[in-house]
Amino acid sequence: MQHLIKTSDFTKDEILNIYDDAKMFLDMESSEVLKGKLIVTLFFENSTRTRSAFEIAAKRLGAEVVSLDVGTSSRSKGETIFDTVMNINAMGPDAIIIRHSDCGLPGSLVDYVDCPVINAGDGKNAHPTQALLDLFTIMEHFDGETQGKRIAIVGDVKTSRVAGSNMKLLPRFGIDVCFVAPECFKAETDEFKQYDNISKVIDNIDIVMSLRTQLERHHEVYFQSLNEYAKDYCITKETFGNRDLLLLHPGPVNRNVDISDEMLLDPRCKVLRQVKNGVAVRMAVLKKLVLQ
Ligand code: CP
Repeated sequence: MQHLIKTSDFTKDEILNIYDDAKMFLDMESSEVLKGKLIVTLFFENSTRTRSAFEIAAKRLGAEVVSLDVGTSSRSKGETIFDTVMNINAMGPDAIIIRHSDCGLPGSLVDYVDCPVINAGDGKNAHPTQALLDLFTIMEHFDGETQGKRIAIVGDVKTSRVAGSNMKLLPRFGIDVCFVAPECFKAETDEFKQYDNISKVIDNIDIVMSLRTQLERHHEVYFQSLNEYAKDYCITKETFGNRDLLLLHPGPVNRNVDISDEMLLDPRCKVLRQVKNGVAVRMAVLKKLVLQ
């Protein structure tokens, strides 16, 4: 059985087929592709976009959706995550979508369940559907031509599962990745070029992906304030000038820390297009995995 734990679970051809379906779903209000199927979402970490997008995607395909309210579940009586998932599995869902702060947790479940597991984000490890929708948005913007495009991923690269998934997915489609981050947020890899200021790469890139500063995943305080961080890393009109660049962010955006209010309204900023595309891409992922 095929699951989606990391982007490499899909071949390039499978991803392109998913994108063909996603393009079709972008213009489709509803379908009955998954009529009679049951999708369960288990979000042990907060979410606005990913959870809503998966639930809307499943409903638009005609599936039923059950979302465990983790706060009122029997987790509070001491039931383990594993037992929680085994009990949900015993109810016969057609897919389980799970987000948890522990790296590797979704992948550890696949041998014990009878349906596809979809990783909706595991700690700082991976967020495969976010990277898939990011690449879809890049492809849409560049009319499918990604070979040789260059992206700077800016901000808290160190703890970002979005960066973690994109640094693996984007190079498979010919996109050159570099990182821009202060010393304390640099990626723990020598595989990609890293810069401490976006001014050093802004004239040599096509795409900027800003990231949220994930203070909840750091155990030390590096900055006196986020305002201090923003002085160098917030993407503003001044950062972009009149350059022809695509601006992405996975959300939630810390306004005037990650991206300025003014830049969020700039037509080069496609943050809400990413969100719209996220529903269509997740519809295509659900169709592929549930009907396998
Ligand atoms: N991009 C993203 O994962 O957003 P949420 O945390 O709101 O799901």
